[in-house]
Amino acid sequence: MNERFAPHLIAWQRRHGRHDLPWQASRDPYAIWVSEIMLQQTQVETVIPFYRRFMARLPDVAALAAASEDEVLALWSGLGYYSRARNLYQAAAIVMRDFGGSFPRAFDAIQSLPGIGRSTAAAIAAFAYGERRAILDGNVKRVLCRVFGVDSWPGEKAVENRLWTLAEALLPDDDIAAYTQGLMDLGATLCRRSKPSCAQCPFADDCVANRQGRQSELPTARPRKALPERHTTMLMLLHGGEILLEKRPPSGIWGGLWSLPECPVDADPGYCAALLGCEVTALPPLPKLTHTFSHFRLHIQPQPLSVARCPAGLNAPGRLWLPLADAREAALPTPVRTLLERLEAAGGAD
Ligand code: ADE
Repeated sequence: MNERFAPHLIAWQRRHGRHDLPWQASRDPYAIWVSEIMLQQTQVETVIPFYRRFMARLPDVAALAAASEDEVLALWSGLGYYSRARNLYQAAAIVMRDFGGSFPRAFDAIQSLPGIGRSTAAAIAAFAYGERRAILDGNVKRVLCRVFGVDSWPGEKAVENRLWTLAEALLPDDDIAAYTQGLMDLGATLCRRSKPSCAQCPFADDCVANRQGRQSELPTARPRKALPERHTTMLMLLHGGEILLEKRPPSGIWGGLWSLPECPVDADPGYCAALLGCEVTALPPLPKLTHTFSHFRLHIQPQPLSVARCPAGLNAPGRLWLPLADAREAALPTPVRTLLERLEAAGGAD
């Protein structure tokens, strides 16, 4: 596959790729530089009118360097990510001062300019000078991860390094501009993040993601951070077919909802019930339930308790005894509702 990748891509680009984008009319490194910076975080259709206006007003490095930063920002206004415009403007001054007003030819010099990373420098070198350099932007990462079945998160340095090595190994000896444009075109037009058009893709037969139906899994998403784990025991105090609910404080988790009284997992539930003012007998516990919040995971041990007497716990503010069937109508957190349903299914408050 590695040897066939570039010739297939170049042939596909010639037939199906994009050929009339405004910056493709030129091999002027300034024109290509401006386009690549605009295209870093913005789609082609959005960029085109901004690009035309920018180039009409500031057609070369000298014009850009001679403009005011305000004017450059005004020309950028609406494109977003304004640090791109400030970097472009600064870089123009450097080109005037250090490179005699000519956009640099050497790759390291290109990459040294503000706002130009390795992939953007490679795109400029490939399009303007026909230099054999590998690009690796977000679209290209997606294409490579899918076609070659790279199934680790590309944001990880080791995975990114692997993708750079792959991108360099795939480079053709010739036609670097068509190849580079082909990678961009494939990523933007067929190998889209969602609903890729695999049927029209030149790599459909070889692509690991397509063969395995894993287009939505590749590239692998950023791994979720391991969530902190918390544990609690929820007391299901039962008396004459009723259950005791407790109102949560107004702010914080489940603020203002009706929940179950809680007890630390290492404490005796009977002791916690006594603190509430109830004399109880423990019933068999229900199975544990895990509830995942955005920032932690809560493991709940539900503990039904049969209440013999509960004089102090009966009418305290923020406490409510409700028939089990009615309790399910209250404003309950989802896992508490689930627990009440399980309790009823297990024979309830009989
Ligand atoms: N995205 C980044 N560079 C591009 C280019 N030269 N053409 C189309 N899309 C691009």
